[in-house]
Amino acid sequence: MHTLIIDTDPGADDVIALLFALAAPESLSIQALTTVAGNVPLAKTSRNARLACEWAGRPEVPVYAGAERPLQRTPIYAANIHGHEGLTGVVVHEPAVPLAEGGAVDYLVRTLRAAPENSVTLAMLGPQTNLALALEQAPDITRGIRELVLMAGAHFNGGNITPVAEFNVFADPHAAEAVLKSGVPITMLPLDVTHKILTSDARIARLRGLGNRAGAIVADILDAYAPQEMKHYGMPGGPVHDATVTAYLLRPDLFQGRRIHVEIDSREGMGFGQTVADWHGSLKRPANVNWIIDGDAQGFFDLLTEHIARLP
Ligand code: BDR
Ligand code: CA
Repeated sequence: MHTLIIDTDPGADDVIALLFALAAPESLSIQALTTVAGNVPLAKTSRNARLACEWAGRPEVPVYAGAERPLQRTPIYAANIHGHEGLTGVVVHEPAVPLAEGGAVDYLVRTLRAAPENSVTLAMLGPQTNLALALEQAPDITRGIRELVLMAGAHFNGGNITPVAEFNVFADPHAAEAVLKSGVPITMLPLDVTHKILTSDARIARLRGLGNRAGAIVADILDAYAPQEMKHYGMPGGPVHDATVTAYLLRPDLFQGRRIHVEIDSREGMGFGQTVADWHGSLKRPANVNWIIDGDAQGFFDLLTEHIARLP
């Protein structure tokens, strides 16, 4: 059982990750969602996070809005991939439940301070600005954290926003640096693994065939999202990046990785936003990340489909 906070920038794959997690109350005790600017500006990521709660039939889960911009760099978005509303393939509306009062950074500080030692897992699906701000304000909050599970980074696969950088890190490398330096246990699911867990027509058809609203939403999102990724990378299917974080939380046995030393390049230049992953231990520096490189793709889609089936 994880006591969980999900920090997110929905985002097509974020919404799928959220629906998946919200469908697993027996394993994931979700305290709140915290939102950050990323794929689209904050107002839209915050609306989409609330939409995910509505679609999952979980309107009681509070959503706190967080950082409107990265720590230092100029803001960037990914509307070219996720659409101007931050969601491909589905029509959005203003959800019935408003945002929770107070900001995400204050919520993180307050909650992690009050939590028992090593008790809260944070799933991080967007740029890591909120946690970096919380750590700056209150470095002692690391005490309450059990583990961070991040969709972030790229090494063997190469990047998706520059030749070497993955979007979430590129969108706020200074935040990623602060998070990596915090010393808390970190698992990263980089493009190295997310580009191995790909949609197929049959996998999407199974989700649609569930016959519920959530299955149709996930299938519609993927039908619109996958082809552009397939075309760009020449892959046989599309990735569902952030949803691998939910799957890892529920079934870590579906994944393989290695504990390695990782640093972020935050200098201006071609390497900006790169996760420098010392896979072979050349630097002889202590491991700070459990870096996932492989996963059971069919196991992932079976788990996703079983969970989406439980929703309205
Ligand atoms: C990551 O970037 C975002 O566009 C996706 O939501 C995912 O979190 C993939 O690089
Ligand atoms: Ca995301």
